[in-house]
Amino acid sequence: MMRSPKVRTAILISGRGSNMVAIAQAAQATDYPAEIVGVISNRPDAKGLERAKALGLNTDIVDHKLYDNRKAFEQALHAQLLALDPEIICCAGFMRILTPWFVSQWHGRLINIHPSLLPKYKGLNTHQRAIEAGDTHAGVSVHWVTAELDGGEVIDQRSIEILPHDTADTLAERLLPVELALYPDALEAVALQFQKQPRQ
Ligand code: GRF
Repeated sequence: MMRSPKVRTAILISGRGSNMVAIAQAAQATDYPAEIVGVISNRPDAKGLERAKALGLNTDIVDHKLYDNRKAFEQALHAQLLALDPEIICCAGFMRILTPWFVSQWHGRLINIHPSLLPKYKGLNTHQRAIEAGDTHAGVSVHWVTAELDGGEVIDQRSIEILPHDTADTLAERLLPVELALYPDALEAVALQFQKQPRQ
């Protein structure tokens, strides 16, 4: 299949969408190797939807509350994604755990950002756990999505020092700008790899 110059990329969100905005703004650069073909939210009230529209991006909603079970929700999400025809899917603050079925449909094309120095602290409350463990540093990782929650190979990660009076909230606040720099860089590296291969 003929390859478009930029790698078609879709973004999944659930909330405020700051990582989505950072990726979308980076993708506006002519020499950035990925283009954003759409933003999908599982929550109709996600603030990120308005921010995506303001950037002129396609937006869709697949509201998980409207489906009887996870499989039905994922089949609807899968169909919406097929319509966008992405090569890469970025989970950016997407708070649904994806089943092995969905991951198998998009294997090797699904990446996520997680607010810890993986493989440490998979799951939730990552900053609180790092502080309670007495760690000196906390961080953020962009990784491939596999059937194991937060278990896929790390693509890139960055860290900051944990300060004596840090709380989980202050750490999250100080890490956010690090996240917003990391995700566009990590996607760029992945998209450059995709550009070297024939379209899947
Ligand atoms: C980010 O901190 C990300 O690491 C985590 O969820 C948060 C989403 O923020 N998975 P946003 O929706 O991108 O603003």
